[in-house]
Amino acid sequence: MSKTAILEYDGKKYEFPVIVGSENEPAIDINKLRDLTGAITLDPGYKNSGSCESKITFLDGEEGILRYRGYAIEDLAAKADFLEVAYLVIFGELPTKEVLAQFETDIRKYTLVNEEMKNIIDGFPKTAHPMGVLSSLTSALTAFNPKVVNVDNEKEMYEAVCKTMGKFLVIATWTYRKMMGYPLNYYDNTKGYVENFMRLMFELPTGPYAKNQVVIDALDKLFILHADHEQNCSTSTVRIVGSSHAGLFASISAGVSALWGPLHGGANQAVLEMLEDIQKDGGDADKYLAKAKDKEDPFRLMGFGHRVYKNFDPRAKIIKKAADEVLATLGVNDPILQIAKKLEESALVDEYFVSRKLYPNVDFYSGIIYRALGIPTEMFTVMFAIGRLPGWIAQWKEMRVNKEPIGRPRQIYTGYPLRDFVAMDKR
Ligand code: SDX
Repeated sequence: MSKTAILEYDGKKYEFPVIVGSENEPAIDINKLRDLTGAITLDPGYKNSGSCESKITFLDGEEGILRYRGYAIEDLAAKADFLEVAYLVIFGELPTKEVLAQFETDIRKYTLVNEEMKNIIDGFPKTAHPMGVLSSLTSALTAFNPKVVNVDNEKEMYEAVCKTMGKFLVIATWTYRKMMGYPLNYYDNTKGYVENFMRLMFELPTGPYAKNQVVIDALDKLFILHADHEQNCSTSTVRIVGSSHAGLFASISAGVSALWGPLHGGANQAVLEMLEDIQKDGGDADKYLAKAKDKEDPFRLMGFGHRVYKNFDPRAKIIKKAADEVLATLGVNDPILQIAKKLEESALVDEYFVSRKLYPNVDFYSGIIYRALGIPTEMFTVMFAIGRLPGWIAQWKEMRVNKEPIGRPRQIYTGYPLRDFVAMDKR
């Protein structure tokens, strides 16, 4: 029996259909609301508004559940590798060994970035933040790959996916090489995707990158944990930019900019800077918890809280365990890990955080691992972008293949009513 919602407004009753998702989440379909009632809804930050139906990711914020295409994040992080999960997120099924091998081979067809892109990166000062450079370079890829993707042609769409996966990784590492004044490296098609990331980042002309499987495995897991997260800020940005039929590179470039913000992906860099400040200030976790609770103090506990998770972020649990393992394996004893754990321990029994259901999110521990792997703080959000790329691609593809309408929210105007123009000499 299909459910409906009854709205009583201005002396009349209106009935709206209720859509129920495959995990029994209900949504009131207000497609006809304004036509029927003359009213719109108002929901700043879209806390209660769904923008689409999607088959890619399911998360339950109350239960702390996250699944890509129905598979639990815990299983994927423990048993799959990043390209395997990227394929799953984008195309909907776990690939066979042969399909995965072909996917990696097809990505390798596009790992050479046009040399003229180097002229663009040379225009940036070394002090430019890597996320700003990455957003610009991603948009610039359109200039060298101008062909508009026919999203209804599976072959063309598949090639666009492989091209984006191949080129984005290379230009992402170029942002670091530019910052360090190092020459720009090339992808090595005889090596794996995540191993290439480390080579592209750290291999110098003076000698080969010494492969460390512990580091590669840790990064692979981190990229999996970041691969998608339904309609978060940057993914919604990719969708709405793509809804105007702007290209995939242009849409992802906008997603990179949205992710940069410290309330979103930029939080992983902000967490590390916060932990370093606390360490410099004597390591007093309780002092900073008090600052986070003080409404007069703009300080927030970065890496804590989430729009959807009102329970533990399942990714934070996995990353926290991985942080212990990776630092122990690498023999790294980083005091800020202890500060992070003390902050978490104190916050989880503090009424302010408990009553607001504020738990560690994906960004709280990830930076501690990145730092142990030798990734500089300024590159942490670029790491997030590399992990989130498959999700951005998958969501853009789903939106375009489903022929969703251009995104164009309404508003409630609260400015001046009509008024007469005032001549310059009368103002
Ligand atoms: C990501 O959406 C996604 O899925 C994102 C993401 C993904 O994978 O794409 O999961 C990645 O962006 C994770 C979030 C990273 N951001 C941070 O860690 C920044 C710190 N956190 C906050 O700024 C905040 O928690 C947000 C932005 C994450 C969520 O903000 P909301 O949902 O708009 O909640 P809010 O700001 O209205 O806060 C509700 C209350 C407020 O107190 P009251 O006004 O009710 O008294 O909780 C307080 C806030 O002041 N609060 C915090 C806090 N987060 C919320 N107080 C102190 N420290 C914090 N971190």
